[in-house]
Amino acid sequence: MKFATKVIHAGIVPDPSTGAVMTPIYQTSTYVQQAPGVHQGYEYARTQNPTRNVLQDNLAALENGTHGICFASGLAAMDAVLKLLNPGDEIISTNDLYGGSYRLMRRVFEKYGIKLHFIDLQDIATLKATINDNTRLIWVETPTNPMLNVIDIQLVCEQVKAQNTNALICVDNTFASPYLQTPLDLGADMVLHSATKYIGGHSDLVLGAIVVKEENLAKELYFLQNAVGAVPGPQDCFWRCVVSKRYICAWNELAKMQRVLLIFWRHILR
Ligand SMILES: Cc1ncc(COP(=O)(O)O)c(C=O)c1O
Repeated sequence: MKFATKVIHAGIVPDPSTGAVMTPIYQTSTYVQQAPGVHQGYEYARTQNPTRNVLQDNLAALENGTHGICFASGLAAMDAVLKLLNPGDEIISTNDLYGGSYRLMRRVFEKYGIKLHFIDLQDIATLKATINDNTRLIWVETPTNPMLNVIDIQLVCEQVKAQNTNALICVDNTFASPYLQTPLDLGADMVLHSATKYIGGHSDLVLGAIVVKEENLAKELYFLQNAVGAVPGPQDCFWRCVVSKRYICAWNELAKMQRVLLIFWRHILR
């Protein structure tokens, strides 16, 4: 399936209970059970919601992953990734990181014994010198917010995997969107979105997502999604995301055009 087709169709199947071609908004907190634990795959809406599942499957397809895990915000998604770590683990990230992501690492997780390194991730020699046996997570944000610096995802992944096979690489793909880059194809283990931005597209929702391609990692993140409970509601999953996201190709093309005009203005007209 090509990207634009995936945006519209991937993961979206007619509703099994009615045949509705468009995903219904399952506005329910709980589901009937024939006996305790005997149900149709859904027991409580923090754990599973069919509307959320559709969005998760659709985002997984857009990022060329196998599992999508949605959260109430981009930072709630990041919080789940950071909760994969244990005291003593080390994170390497860029020194030009979105302020909220920096705050979450520095003000919330550092006190639980996570060691942080903020370096220039464009400088592979510095990355090489910073990786050690305790390195557990490389947090790549590219392009960065707000400086729009670009990090070579493939180069970073190759360097990290050559030195420490236990380290996970998560790419915050908020600013590029899967229309422009798919980090899982470049060696990353996880992709994160503040869907509040390009994925949502209309400045009318707050939502986050992680996409992975490895079953065990997905299981750990689904566990955290349910155990911590920072889940998005079905209205946001449907109206704001399944539907809004359909404009992603159009606004990316417009953004590309604006960039060309900006470069033209800066270099030719001035
Ligand atoms: C690159 C990046 N990552 C993460 C976030 C956090 O996302 P949210 O505001 O949905 O929690 C933002 C928000 O601006 C962002 O720009």
